[in-house]
This record gives sequence, C-alpha cells and structure tokens, in this order.
Amino acid sequence: MTYLVTAATGRAGRHVVAELLRKGEKVRALTRDPASANLPPEVEVVGGDLTDPASLAGAFDGVTGVHLVVQGGDGYATLRTGPDIAVLAKRAGVQRVVVLWNGDPGPVEEAIAASGLPWSSLQPPDFMVNTLSWAASIKATGGISEPFGDVLSAAVHEADVGAASAALLVREDHSGQAYPLTGPEALSPRRKLAILGEAIGRDLVFTELTENQARERWQRAGHAPDLVDLLASWAKNPPASAYTVTGNVERLTGRPARDFASWAAEYASSFR
Ligand SMILES: NC(=O)c1ccc[n+]([C@@H]2O[C@H](COP(=O)([O-])OP(=O)(O)OC[C@H]3O[C@@H](n4cnc5c(N)ncnc54)[C@H](OP(=O)(O)O)[C@@H]3O)[C@@H](O)[C@H]2O)c1
Repeated sequence: MTYLVTAATGRAGRHVVAELLRKGEKVRALTRDPASANLPPEVEVVGGDLTDPASLAGAFDGVTGVHLVVQGGDGYATLRTGPDIAVLAKRAGVQRVVVLWNGDPGPVEEAIAASGLPWSSLQPPDFMVNTLSWAASIKATGGISEPFGDVLSAAVHEADVGAASAALLVREDHSGQAYPLTGPEALSPRRKLAILGEAIGRDLVFTELTENQARERWQRAGHAPDLVDLLASWAKNPPASAYTVTGNVERLTGRPARDFASWAAEYASSFR
C-alpha cells in the first residue's frame, strides 16, 4: 500500500517516512522542492504545495492513507485549503488520514471531519527537537534566553511522532479519535537546559525573557501572527494537555516513549 506523507522533509515527517519504510510500506513524499528533498531512494518524491490545491493533482492517486500537517508556508500559517485537500483525497479513494495538529484543532481538522474521511489526530504539545534552536546560543554564550523558564511541557521525541503516525496509518480503525502524544515526563525549559548541560559536560546559564521580548523574537524569525499568539499562549499558560504525560506513544507503537536525556545524548554534538 502507498502512503502519502506531507511535510516529509520536516523534522517529524522524515521519521514518518522512515517508519513506514521500516514496515515495508510504499511512501510518496510531498515537498515543494523535490530536488532538495534528500529522502531515501525508495521514496517516491512528488512536488506540491499544500496552500495551492491545483499543485496537488495526482498526489493522492493510489494512496491508502495520508499523514497530513495543518500548516504550510514559511511562516507556519494554518492551512486554509483543508476542504480542497479533503475533496482531492476522497476523490482519489484515500481510506484514512492521520492529522498532525498544531496545538489546537482548526479548519483542516474541521474539513477532514466534515468530509466523512476516516481520520485520527495526533496531538503532541512540543517536539524535543525544538530545543535545537538553543544550540547557537549555547555554543556562543554558554546559555539561553527564553521566556517562562518554569512552565512545564511533556515534549515528545520527534521520532516517536513518526512511529506513532506510521503505526496509526497502517491501522484501519479511525473514528476521529485524538491521541495526545507526549514524552515520559514534563520538564521546564530550565530543567531541560540542565539535562543538556549534563549531556555535554558543561554548566549552562538560563536567562528569563519577558513575554514581549519573546514575541519580538518569534516575529523576527518570520512566524505568522497566529503562530506567535499560539506560541505565547502555550508558553505562558499551557493547557493541561501540554504537561500531562500520556502513554499513547507506547500504546500506539509498542515501545516506551523516549526521554529527554536520551534526546540530549543523541544530539549532544549539536550543542558542543
Ligand atoms: N515543532 C513542534 O513542537 C510541533 C508541535 C506540534 C505539532 N507540530 C506540527 O508538526 C508539523 C511538522 O513539523 P516539523 O517540525 O516536522 O516540520 P519542519 O521541520 O518545520 O518542516 C516544515 C515542513 O513543512 C513542509 N511545508 C511547509 N509549507 C508547505 C507547503 N506550503 N506545502 C507543502 N509542504 C510544506 C516543508 O516541506 P518542504 O519545505 O520540503 O516543502 C517541511 O517538510 C508542523 O507543521 C506543526 O504543525 C509541531
């Protein structure tokens, strides 16, 4: 069977691809730039832009299941093309969709649900790999400046997101069920920095930013206004689902969720 992976070149998407291949499935990967996709040779790479339904013609043909992200474009704006995507998928005979949310069920989820396509929703609060954004500062200054240093998040390893999506995609029971997907513990940014310090053998310094300073930084990074608001609200006052540990990684994949210390050991060289 063939599975279409959107955002296949992304930090989680690459793991969805790898896990499907490991299961012996065929993978079609969607990217806006096939020439620089850098995916395994057995993957069928197709060009397409999720914000431009006309560019997706053919992408869904012969596809059993779709791993679907809900954002597109360089500013990570929420997709407005959910209804078009649902029509294309349905018309092509797609049997199930695994939606990777973005912190809040939105118009893509609504469109997929309204279409009658069987679907499930993966709901991670935060990927461990986001911490890579600290690397330059840690290397240059021996620390980081971040807002809300004591707010907890049960970040999940992106490889576990990939494994969970692949596990769901090959299953046939999809009824709009949501799977909050977390790592095995809730940690604050301050605690994560300490764990990273242990991994690289260095004491690292945490400096707390104000919310306004953090918003300015996210705007400078080119994030869309709705993403800046979402990041600020999650960082300041996260919903319980952001820090409540679930067993869904193990339930879906049969393996315990990876912890942040393992992630830090795996990526230590990026912080040295
Ligand atoms: N990071 C987190 O903590 C977190 C938490 C919860 C949910 N999520 C969700 O997870 C998703 C994947 O995150 P990630 O970190 O794996 O991605 P990423 O590394 O930031 O990469 C973005 C991906 O989106 C693709 N993309 C962007 N705009 C596109 C468009 N218009 N049409 C087609 N593809 C497009 C890119 O593909 P090309 O550049 O190859 O076209 C790339 O593969 C995000 O969209 C986000 O909604 C993330």
